[in-house]
Amino acid sequence: MNSKQRIDDYLASQSRLGLLRFITCGSVDDGKSTLIGRMLYEAQLIFEDQVAALRQESRVGPAQLASKVDILDESHAKSHHANSPAESQGEIQDKCNSTINAKSQAHSHAEGQGESHEAPSSTDEDLDFSLLVDGLAAEREQGITIDVAYRFFATEHRKFIVADTPGHEQYTRNMATGASTADVAVILVDAVNGVLTQTRRHSFICSLLGIRQVALAVNKMDLVDYRQDVYEQILADYQAFAKNLDFDQVTAIPLSALKGDNVVERSDAMPWHTGPTLIGYLETVKVQWQEPASQDFRMPVQWVSRPDRSFRGFAGTVVAGSVKPGDEVRVLPSAETAKVKNLVLYQSELPEAVTDQAVTLTLDRELDCSRGDLIVAANQPCEVADQFEVQLVWMDQAPGHHGRGYWLKTATSTVNASISDIKFKYNINTLEQLSARDLDLNDICVATLALDKPIAFEPYSQNRTLGSFVLIDRYTNATVAAGMIKFALRRATNIHAQKLEVNRQAREALNDHQARVLWFTGLSGSGKSSIADALEQRLHQQGIRTYILDGDNIRHGLNQDLGFTEADRVENIRRVAEVARLMLDAGLVVMASFISPFKAERDMARRLFDEGQFIEIFVDTPLEEAERRDVKGLYAKARRGELPNFTGIDSPYEPPENPEIRLNAGENSVETCVQQIVDYLARS
Ligand code: ADX
Repeated sequence: MNSKQRIDDYLASQSRLGLLRFITCGSVDDGKSTLIGRMLYEAQLIFEDQVAALRQESRVGPAQLASKVDILDESHAKSHHANSPAESQGEIQDKCNSTINAKSQAHSHAEGQGESHEAPSSTDEDLDFSLLVDGLAAEREQGITIDVAYRFFATEHRKFIVADTPGHEQYTRNMATGASTADVAVILVDAVNGVLTQTRRHSFICSLLGIRQVALAVNKMDLVDYRQDVYEQILADYQAFAKNLDFDQVTAIPLSALKGDNVVERSDAMPWHTGPTLIGYLETVKVQWQEPASQDFRMPVQWVSRPDRSFRGFAGTVVAGSVKPGDEVRVLPSAETAKVKNLVLYQSELPEAVTDQAVTLTLDRELDCSRGDLIVAANQPCEVADQFEVQLVWMDQAPGHHGRGYWLKTATSTVNASISDIKFKYNINTLEQLSARDLDLNDICVATLALDKPIAFEPYSQNRTLGSFVLIDRYTNATVAAGMIKFALRRATNIHAQKLEVNRQAREALNDHQARVLWFTGLSGSGKSSIADALEQRLHQQGIRTYILDGDNIRHGLNQDLGFTEADRVENIRRVAEVARLMLDAGLVVMASFISPFKAERDMARRLFDEGQFIEIFVDTPLEEAERRDVKGLYAKARRGELPNFTGIDSPYEPPENPEIRLNAGENSVETCVQQIVDYLARS
């Protein structure tokens, strides 16, 4: 066998190996980096030895290897063969910063041996070592914005991509991202500290995200003298918790990442352990390679391709099932059907496209289908709904509130969504269900969401891609939560708006004026109520039908159950906005006078109305002036610390950026402000 043949065979055997994606999680000091470092290091030695052996007979010199590794950090290119296996955590990490180093190390190693620098034949150049890291590149593209390092390594039996995520509480977000594509979780526990809250939280998230196989890696066994009883106790603690999760199997392994016990090599120090080593486990663990999805065809449309007028193709990646020319498909949410004409990939036509394959479909007839739609098997469509019960992992420092709106982004589309109910959140240690109005960093809850448009979906348990989403803050663009769809709420499909004959337009005609919502926002004592009161008198005299919704009044009735926490204010404004909508429909000019301190809820209120119906009036009185007036004596009370969460003192006010009307109510009289509004209404 010549050398090229051998390299070919080696690479072919590598490419045939199954790929296992796993995640490592644990608390900050559980030794995760050391463990990953150890695995990469040892796997890398195996890899490098093979490469070196191959190279002995190979004409593949360092020149072309170097050309393929120039994006790599050469500082890692030092050969580690000279060193004995690393002793310290730092050393291991340093050497194993990335397995891609295997390539650059192979380079320096080869150079060190003074190998041939002659130019390769073009066929040799085709033997690209990056075959070994292709999976990594694909993962990187999926990595979007979240800080997860995906590392690749291979042994003789499997290829691995490990999602390496920081263990700190703040980084639950990264952990959840890593877990969402993983088949297996390696959950690290420090033998000295035992099972911690963070261990439970990460385990719970792994379970929610569909991981069914878990290795419980009890690390730092060297620090507890390799004692079996310590290990057994940790295992018992963990199992007591994990029995409530959806794992199929938990395999416990006592190890020391630092010393290398039971990572790759069996440990002499723990002869009592009869189970596998960690690498042994990872090489052999059976996972469901396929999603348990009903394997009906599903493809989100990522792009509509129209190179010329004669061609219209729908490009995307098949996320479940397969498709052939001639298959009947349905486009959701419109539900129109067509037959697949061709499957195109670059210039060629395919006989079939299967799960994970990117393809462009052409259909036998023109229909309404755009980016974000979902193409599915016509006779096995998935559901379309606009209200869901979901699981959320809250990832933002700023709390999430019942009633607040966000962008909801799925594989297919981005829509407006609000949290319509927080059913409960979990006590992470006991999995007990707690009632809650808001969500704090790292909280995990069951909630219902209401979307402003229906989306096509599948429950997360059936399809990870079509059942997952993130919530995005509209103002900061931060990802605030990761979510999994449990099911659609039936009420969404069972409640149909009743069509009534007498409508707003008819009432407006009878009143002889248009209905409007005048939304007054500003600090307590800014003059909102006085201005609304004077304005109402003016309008009333003109024969205009009006009504005032005022904070202090509404809080005595409809909203008497609400206080002044952020969550309660969000709910206060949500209810008032809904009432204002009813009153607008009744044909009235509604004046809503509320501090309404948060942009998000004012915008939510605005979205309930058509263009021009909602007029935001910022009663812009400076805090000093409002406090000087202190009509109700509340500022003084707040300053004395007797009134917590007082707006402007210890609770924020977010001024409107583009109100329709800004009233300089600190300097101008009530009459002047009223005139300014009357003038605006006359013009609009
Ligand atoms: S909002 O923030 O939820 O929009 P809203 O306008 O309904 O508030 O109620 C504000 C009124 O409640 C104030 O004008 C004041 O009279 C009274 N109030 C009592 N406690 C507070 C507080 N902590 N912060 C602000 N206003 C308070």
